[in-house]
Amino acid sequence: MTGTSQDTLDPPDWQEFRSQGHRMLDDILDYLEHIRERPVWQPIPPEVRASFRQGLPAAPEDLATVHETFMRDVLPFGVGNAHPGFMGWVHGGGTPVGMLAEMLAAGLNANLGGRDQMPIEMERQVLRWVRELFGFPDAASGLFVTGTSMANLIGLLVARTFALGTGGRRQGIAASDKRLIAYASAGAHGCIAQAMDLSGIGIDALRMVPVNDRHEMQVAALERAIARDRSAGLTPFLIVGTAGTVDVGAIDPLAALADIAHREKLWFHVDGAYGALAMLATDIAPRLAGIDRADSIAFDFHKWGQVPYDAGFVLVRDGNLHRRTFASPAAYLRRETRGIAAGSPWPCDFGPDLSRGFRALKTWFTIKVYGAERLGRMISGTCALARYMGQRIAEAPMLELLAPVSLNIVCYRYRSENSDLVNADIVAALHESGIAAPSTTTIDGRLAIRAAIVNHRTNASDIDALIRATIAFGEARSEPMPLRKAS
Ligand SMILES: Cc1ncc(COP(=O)(O)O)c(C=O)c1O
Repeated sequence: MTGTSQDTLDPPDWQEFRSQGHRMLDDILDYLEHIRERPVWQPIPPEVRASFRQGLPAAPEDLATVHETFMRDVLPFGVGNAHPGFMGWVHGGGTPVGMLAEMLAAGLNANLGGRDQMPIEMERQVLRWVRELFGFPDAASGLFVTGTSMANLIGLLVARTFALGTGGRRQGIAASDKRLIAYASAGAHGCIAQAMDLSGIGIDALRMVPVNDRHEMQVAALERAIARDRSAGLTPFLIVGTAGTVDVGAIDPLAALADIAHREKLWFHVDGAYGALAMLATDIAPRLAGIDRADSIAFDFHKWGQVPYDAGFVLVRDGNLHRRTFASPAAYLRRETRGIAAGSPWPCDFGPDLSRGFRALKTWFTIKVYGAERLGRMISGTCALARYMGQRIAEAPMLELLAPVSLNIVCYRYRSENSDLVNADIVAALHESGIAAPSTTTIDGRLAIRAAIVNHRTNASDIDALIRATIAFGEARSEPMPLRKAS
């Protein structure tokens, strides 16, 4: 530093910086425009991986050079979820609109923990839309979070306050003589058990209720489990229904779960990580009936909503209870009625994060630019593709469906003697071929190839390519010679 002048990090030559910025924008738009011409995924070359083992760089490097490194060494070796052939796990594809909004958010560099600012008004606008979508009252609160794992944890913590009162926050659950018990289906996502762990209630206090042949929670089994726990002196407090299970896309009978929760005075939380946004799709929304009676809902805009990562959301019917679960007074966060410190309550009163990015902006842009109806049609379209894929599998004698196609997820396998091994090999070969990227799961003890059609770019030709390649790799691997190289 010379004299008292600050060594600002802004560019010395804005014009040159602007030109470089335009080149970077063009490069990433080229990537998105031509994504179909690329492999879905390709392995990271060892030398590229090794080049990211360097020490802390002391000296500056030119922006253009750093950008070149990104284009050469990072961009081609992502997981591939923007690509139409990506069908693994549950990943949204993102949109160019969301990407541009994210750039604006980074430029503004807003911190949405609190204070009086339009970015928070925008988050409140999205909350109003979410309330409207799920038929929740004006008193319902909501919050952007990283993803549904965090949103489920927040829902569970509000349920804990519902059961123990706010005293539990200070004294901890150990001070309570109540042994809290929660219920979710055997198909529930692992983050529900994790939330039980993180909340201090414990994983053993989660009952995994059996499912029927459509992989939906069995209502009678739930009722029996609650009765059994009550008669053992335990305190049932929470039912978690899933709208779109991660394995097969099953929807729990939400209306029946709402009835039971109401009768038993339990908190009813819905994990709708990707499935909840099917409320936008006129043909699927009726199957989510009962979600409007939930006490809290967790879901992601970054899955079926196609908002770039990350954009999870939690909605809580009783906004007051939600706030009482998290709000903590602090002198340095004093609220005012005028000036920047106005606008209370602040988002930090509804969750554990004080520093919060502007996730609302990319979500607001996505909903404004595409509109709710078009997003709903896109969601319906992915389900239609899943049904098409189900039919193609049913028509192929060497393939077998392993679960009913309820939403947008198809679980199947190549028929073979050594089926688990062969199908795991097929999936790895599909990834390495760059043709398509499904993932695997286990259905009734059998390894399944699992295609979750979440990406708005996927079309019937991508499904055809996946089926063709599955059969080709299956045939190649089912020959009597060694199925897998000895390691
Ligand atoms: C049903 C369900 N719940 C929870 C999650 C976790 O969501 P996230 O990855 O946003 O934390 C997922 C992820 O796919 C899911 O499918």
